[in-house]
Amino acid sequence: MNEEQRIQQAGINQVDNNIERIKNTKSDDMIAKYFQTSYEAQSPDIKKARKRLNEDVQIHYDFAIPEDMATIGKGKKFLIRTYGCQMNEHDTEVMAGILTEMGYEATSDTNDADIILLNTCAIRENAENKVFGEIGHLKPLKIEKPDLIIGVCGCMSQEESVVDRILKKHQHIDLIFGTHNIHRLPQLVKEALFGKEMIVEVWSKEGDVIENLPKVRKGKIKAWVNIMYGCDKFCTYCIVPMTRGKERSRLPQDIIQEVRHLVAQGYQEVTLLGQNVNAYGKDFEDIEYGLGDLMNDIHKIDIPRVRFTTSHPRDFDDRLIEVLAKGGNLLDHIHLPVQSGSSEILKKMNRKYTREDYLELVRKIRKAIPNATLTTDIIVGFPNETEEQFEETMTLMEEVGFEAAYTYIYSPREGTPAARKKDDVPESVKKQRLYRLNELVNKQSAASMKTYKGKTVKVLVEGESKKDPDILAGYTEKNKLVNFKGPRSSIGKIVEVEITEAKTWSLDGVMVENTVEVN
Ligand code: 5AD
Ligand code: SF4
Repeated sequence: MNEEQRIQQAGINQVDNNIERIKNTKSDDMIAKYFQTSYEAQSPDIKKARKRLNEDVQIHYDFAIPEDMATIGKGKKFLIRTYGCQMNEHDTEVMAGILTEMGYEATSDTNDADIILLNTCAIRENAENKVFGEIGHLKPLKIEKPDLIIGVCGCMSQEESVVDRILKKHQHIDLIFGTHNIHRLPQLVKEALFGKEMIVEVWSKEGDVIENLPKVRKGKIKAWVNIMYGCDKFCTYCIVPMTRGKERSRLPQDIIQEVRHLVAQGYQEVTLLGQNVNAYGKDFEDIEYGLGDLMNDIHKIDIPRVRFTTSHPRDFDDRLIEVLAKGGNLLDHIHLPVQSGSSEILKKMNRKYTREDYLELVRKIRKAIPNATLTTDIIVGFPNETEEQFEETMTLMEEVGFEAAYTYIYSPREGTPAARKKDDVPESVKKQRLYRLNELVNKQSAASMKTYKGKTVKVLVEGESKKDPDILAGYTEKNKLVNFKGPRSSIGKIVEVEITEAKTWSLDGVMVENTVEVN
């Protein structure tokens, strides 16, 4: 069987399988499930979460806005405020799509909105604090406009403590729904509009895959495409396996169809999204088809740029490296979160690799893709991290030569194993470590930027720069921000820019004449 036949066969088997699964679900059960409105959020519980691995996942292709909700938003406006990661940004695009199909129009003015949704993030405590601040700020508006619907969704609504706090202290909230309930937005809005009580719908079920959801994408140049949902890695510090549910992959043909559709609409770049994209396909029962295979198929599609995020080193296999080495539209920037440079800390984090394993993976990647740019995520101040263990993170940072890193101070999350550990590292020491790490990250980023001075790079032009409307901004293949002088006609295109100045986090340049049609 050749590659093309294999993917086709894979899709057919999987679809058959899913039709069977759906058929086996009693319709009464479905109705009961779909119309439950009771509060079912569970406190994050790692033992319970681990049991889910054998649970069935269903794929649904039958999303539709109920007739009685299709025009309910006519003449009204919605605003969605998004916190956190790209997954949330993309969920917002889906919710915007659903609300638009219900007749609502988007607004960025809080005072103008008839429905406000806060799409929240639970990854660190400060993310949650910001949301509670915003919930408080919205109270006077709700008092002034009682018909306004305020909803809280996203990762925080999957946490029992958050739901309890809102129920007790923030009665002006009309609606709380979880990450698995987004497709229920029309029904939930209806209940919120016509009911008196706060509507809470957070399923403890780990979630299905819902296809054919409408989307209003944020831009017309770059697009996100979900390839899988959830995470089964259970890193000991992380809330995501509890808030986003079990790993479940979309079928290859659904993803490929979405990418083809984006190409037809003129998109220049797609980022394949998942909490742990390297686990893509591991949940397929009948087929062997992983991220490498998917990238290989997307490689053949006529879209100039393909990225993926976020990777877990443990599942980054040889097949993926071999496919990425083909280059073309598969860009050689790899974001590969390491979290710590100490094998002892990595073990406590349950990352399932050592410092040496990570370095070996980096060697393999560099051998196959010599120009690969690596960036990472790092947590400092994990419970009881010693000075020596932190130093190992600093030396790893240098040894790998990361060109950028997102760095965080460890934040205990209720229900995660690490949060139960006593921690003897004072906050001041953690802050100091973050400061030292950031100095090093800045130094390495600046050094990598300097190498571009005088060189010509390909830039996908996104629009005006944030600071100066006469300057255009875009990103290189390696995801470096470039501000440059060029004609507005280059927006949405890939052009060549000569770099004249390197800063710590961006490059300045001038467009090379006559390159508007490079792509
Ligand atoms: N505290 C601090 N940082 C965290 N991350 C995940 N959970 C926590 C936590 N409890 C970081 C990791 C991850 C990134 C998205 O957020 O580095 O890769
Ligand atoms: Fe969280 Fe990422 Fe670990 Fe999953 S792999 S538990 S999302 S840090």
